[in-house]
Amino acid sequence: MAKQILVTGGLGFIGSHTVVELQNAGFDVVVIDDLSNTTIKVLDQITEITGTKPVFEQIDLRIKADVKAFFDKYQIDGIIHFAAFKAVGESMHKPLDYYENNLGSLVYLLQEMRDRKLDNFIFSSSCTVYGQADELPITEKAPVKKAESVYGNTKQIGEEIIEDATKAHDFKAIALRYFNPVGAHPTTKIGELPIGVPQNLIPFITQTAAGLRAELSVFGDDYDTPDGTAVRDYIHVVDLAKAHIAALQRLIDNNNKEKFEYFNVGTGTGSSVLEVINAFETANSLKLNYKIVDRRAGDITAAYADTTIANKELNWKTELSLETALKSAWEWQLKQK
Ligand SMILES: NC(=O)c1ccc[n+]([C@@H]2O[C@H](COP(=O)([O-])OP(=O)(O)OC[C@H]3O[C@@H](n4cnc5c(N)ncnc54)[C@H](O)[C@@H]3O)[C@@H](O)[C@H]2O)c1
Repeated sequence: MAKQILVTGGLGFIGSHTVVELQNAGFDVVVIDDLSNTTIKVLDQITEITGTKPVFEQIDLRIKADVKAFFDKYQIDGIIHFAAFKAVGESMHKPLDYYENNLGSLVYLLQEMRDRKLDNFIFSSSCTVYGQADELPITEKAPVKKAESVYGNTKQIGEEIIEDATKAHDFKAIALRYFNPVGAHPTTKIGELPIGVPQNLIPFITQTAAGLRAELSVFGDDYDTPDGTAVRDYIHVVDLAKAHIAALQRLIDNNNKEKFEYFNVGTGTGSSVLEVINAFETANSLKLNYKIVDRRAGDITAAYADTTIANKELNWKTELSLETALKSAWEWQLKQK
């Protein structure tokens, strides 16, 4: 019988792509989302891609009684936990809301796992846990540095909570430390839906190219990088989604080496802001209106992953290029009229 997987935040950007890959891999999927940062339309879009409608429950994971009632209703073989608030800037103004949502919900889920003897937990972590790493590319051995934002801190504390819980209780977990997810599904039926002014480069680029924003701001050209602009590791969201299936399978097959493990999920290649702009212009035969402005507070110089361990242990590697990601992001943008 197919394993039944709970995907929290499964109608969000990364969650929706992961639901598609789970269904493609033969899993039954139950999605929880409170629709705070997405729309119910995504459920139909997923169904159009895979031909199977995932079971959906509109639940706010901050309500413990509702989380409990959910697990009374469903038998769950694994959990992929995406649901969280993710705006770095906003997290500084609303720290308690971020701690409540990103950590409260996590604790409630883990308590249900403990009480019902469930297993196999995958957590959305972030390369922000490394801050500005002393060495590049960043391996999993790089130390976790004091978080620069409340959001980043929720990821660090989240990992600690999970590790402590796996030590005390009978379940195992993997945290995936994402680098910079970009792009959209090749069908362009699902993609990123940023609300308000995008904080991430690619939606900012596509909205500028679409004329929704007058100009793209490049924050700083005096970083210690080859062209002076900040360097990041942009991973296609479909490749990222597939890493979750690999991690889940590792846990289901008991191939994990520790009860709590963490892996870098990136491409291994760093690209500067100017390189991304050029690649976007070339991939889509467009010209972007951009200007260099001051550095943005909290931005680090460079981060890209050493993926050696993830490639080997998860038996997974990225397959899609930055160019493919940038094309799909643009096609997705064009459909958002
Ligand atoms: N996108 C990135 O750049 C990035 C990078 C590193 C880590 N992450 C992490 O990956 C995860 C998914 O990110 P995303 O980009 O897909 O974000 P997203 O906002 O698109 O998806 C999160 C989903 O969770 C839902 N949600 C939020 N709070 C909820 C709650 N209390 N109960 C039920 N549903 C709730 C939202 O409605 C949304 O659909 C998050 O944990 C995020 O912090 C994202």
